[in-house]
Amino acid sequence: MLIFNNQEALSAHLSSIRKPQTTTGFVPTMGALHDGHLSLLSESVAQNDITVISIFVNPTQFNNADDLAKYPRTLDADVAKIETVSADILVYAPSVNDIYGSDTVSGQFDFDGLENQMEGKFRPGHFDGVGTIVKFLFEIVEPTNAYFGEKDFQQLQIVRKLVSKHGIPVKVVLCPIFREPNGLAMSSRNERLAPETREKAAVIYKALTTAKQLFGTKSVRQLRDLVTEMVEQNGTFRLEYFEIADEATLVPVEKTENNVKYRAFIAVFANDIRLIDTVSLN
Ligand code: PAJ
Repeated sequence: MLIFNNQEALSAHLSSIRKPQTTTGFVPTMGALHDGHLSLLSESVAQNDITVISIFVNPTQFNNADDLAKYPRTLDADVAKIETVSADILVYAPSVNDIYGSDTVSGQFDFDGLENQMEGKFRPGHFDGVGTIVKFLFEIVEPTNAYFGEKDFQQLQIVRKLVSKHGIPVKVVLCPIFREPNGLAMSSRNERLAPETREKAAVIYKALTTAKQLFGTKSVRQLRDLVTEMVEQNGTFRLEYFEIADEATLVPVEKTENNVKYRAFIAVFANDIRLIDTVSLN
């Protein structure tokens, strides 16, 4: 397995193996890989001649220094997991310096308002950090196809906007959410949950599926009250937001209309650990 720590080495290797029709799949990650990440990788390997995965905990997308410090970094274990998918996958695991040089700051992006809702509202600057790193990685890897998870649906829409606004020639591929057996969406942050809390966190997906079942028969407000009660009832979790939003604009609504696709979005705290999830509603 080839592991590159700097962009020049990766670019040189890619140039040396690419022919005119070669397709490159790209899976950007922050490491601490789980089966959700591996499903994106498998998809890429099946659909492309070359697959590149990046592993980089991007400092500029963290609005909380403690969250950044505690984010799990497990490169050796990650490489072993990547190898189970294919030993031909190219790994790009750069240092902060390789990406940012001496100036670890974000660019500024206008994603036509997508960046102001939900994750953008509660994590100021987050999507400027995501835009900065994803654009940068696209420029280095020059992928044909890039794979993103539905779990971070707002991020996916933002990446689509980034690509269309900047004319980046990459196809963005949406991959479904992988869940733990109890329904909890897989996340690198789940590793930080105590086993008992991880079990109880099943309530997040349960609340979302309940909202989905009742969607159309109850008001958005009633659904929010119900979800809040379910999630917060045992005292372990605190709801940060539950929104029902238009899938295309991500604008949260209080009243729904016919012929619009809606999706529920949730963010929950277990102590200082922040978990998000989403389901499509119609
Ligand atoms: P990270 O959280 O590591 O996620 C990398 C990719 O894996 C994202 O596209 C995410 O949506 C997807 N993913 C995470 N959990 C998943 C699950 N349970 N099932 C399926 N896919 C899942 O998202 C980021 O990193 C960063 O913001 C990044 C795009 C790499 C930029 O730094």
